[in-house]
Amino acid sequence: MNLTNRSLVTIDDLSDGEIEALFSLADEMAESPADQAGLCQGKIMASLFFEPSTRTRLSFEAGMLRLGGRVITAVDIGASSLAKGESIADMARVVGSYADIIVIRHPWEGAARVVADYAGVPVINAGDGSHEHPTQTLCDLYTIRKEGRAIKGLRIALWGDLKRGRTVHSLIYALARFGATILFSAGAGLEMPEHVLRKLTTEYAYKLTEVKTLDGEVKRGLFPLDAMYVTPDSPHQLAMLSDISDINIQIQGVETLKKHGIDAWLHYNVSENEFEIKLKRAEIDTLYMMRLQKERQAPAAEGQELKKGYPVVDKKLLRGKMFEKTLVMHPLPRVDELACEVDADPRSMYFKQAAYGVPIRMALLAVLLGAREVTIPEEEDSLIPKIDYPVYKRDSGVKCPNRNCVSNQETEVRYMKPEFKIVSREPLTLRCIYCDHELHPQFVASSDWHQGKLENKKYHSADSQFGRKIRPANLIVFASEDEARTQQFKPSSHIRP
Ligand code: CP
Repeated sequence: MNLTNRSLVTIDDLSDGEIEALFSLADEMAESPADQAGLCQGKIMASLFFEPSTRTRLSFEAGMLRLGGRVITAVDIGASSLAKGESIADMARVVGSYADIIVIRHPWEGAARVVADYAGVPVINAGDGSHEHPTQTLCDLYTIRKEGRAIKGLRIALWGDLKRGRTVHSLIYALARFGATILFSAGAGLEMPEHVLRKLTTEYAYKLTEVKTLDGEVKRGLFPLDAMYVTPDSPHQLAMLSDISDINIQIQGVETLKKHGIDAWLHYNVSENEFEIKLKRAEIDTLYMMRLQKERQAPAAEGQELKKGYPVVDKKLLRGKMFEKTLVMHPLPRVDELACEVDADPRSMYFKQAAYGVPIRMALLAVLLGAREVTIPEEEDSLIPKIDYPVYKRDSGVKCPNRNCVSNQETEVRYMKPEFKIVSREPLTLRCIYCDHELHPQFVASSDWHQGKLENKKYHSADSQFGRKIRPANLIVFASEDEARTQQFKPSSHIRP
């Protein structure tokens, strides 16, 4: 495997071995920065940051300059021709003819994939909406490794806005691949999206244990309403983590769970700002904190509501025994969720995470531009095998449900058809190839209609026996019954009332 000329859109574009190789190269670059000065001489990096950034943009640009390359930049959609209605694909083609590599941050989910599809040069996703931010994950994993912690078996708690925080989406996939044990604690309304959880269970063979207030009482205002405990479930990963199979979590005070012998609990008291987790046999190795992504909340009032129950990491919290050896991580920028009083604490890692951005991004730029090679023999690499899902791509009215997806934007629909992976038939589940959001269409038909007669064009319920039998190549999916009728399909007897 070779990384030259490849793009990094999602963290899954890199195998485990490639990530390790990038870390070794980053070590080398950090040790002797002066030796790297000629590596990318004559190369140009286009730095397109259509959302605010300090760390990602400046560490990429500093990295390219340290490699001897040059940088062209655009940081404002309003000052680019996108503001005149140019499509991302056209912009990508043009910028790809000016630069040797493109780094892009864009507010639309899936935008980086479109740029990678059209640019003709390697593209790095520096954050696409709430979707992914793979190079932040490289900085995060590198920091953990530099602190002498193995990611295999790491017990990591992810707190805060898990819904819209893109860094945590890329991070969780990487943690899962390396076999970490993950505890999610999201604020109410900020839970990890369903499509991320599905990927964890299907692609990474993880087992999810969701813990709610089992007494039936939903305690609004308490954080967390839900705790999600995630453990590796595939045999090879379990073998690495033989000691974790009996750890469970409960909300304090739920007697039902105690009766079942569950030996751990967590509790957050908003009024006193106390957060406690007790696991009988496990400390938290790493606490990864996320800011509330206020800029991605729809109405301002919603942001205010969500802020009320938001956790805070401060000195008092870190006095807890279970945090004794915890690395406190945060992708930054922080707002109120991480108290400045923690900065001097040796457990605080967030400024190191930001600083490692330069050697990590130097290593990445150098390999994608072919200035350095990292070749990992396939037989020595470990890559979770990609599931080859059938693809659905037809004009049948069905759209990605995510309004922020690139495939739903006025400038992009002129040339782009929505495209989905068929990730499940029971229930029928389509995953958008751009943003990973999922939909569960209710009505389907087969393009291979009975005896080829138009009067036999029938649509069915997706979950009927007939609907489930339609081969992926023949599958037609409708957004609604009206859509099916508009396309001159009639209801079959396989329609559920
Ligand atoms: N962590 C991160 O992406 O920071 P910036 O938004 O400053 O780039």
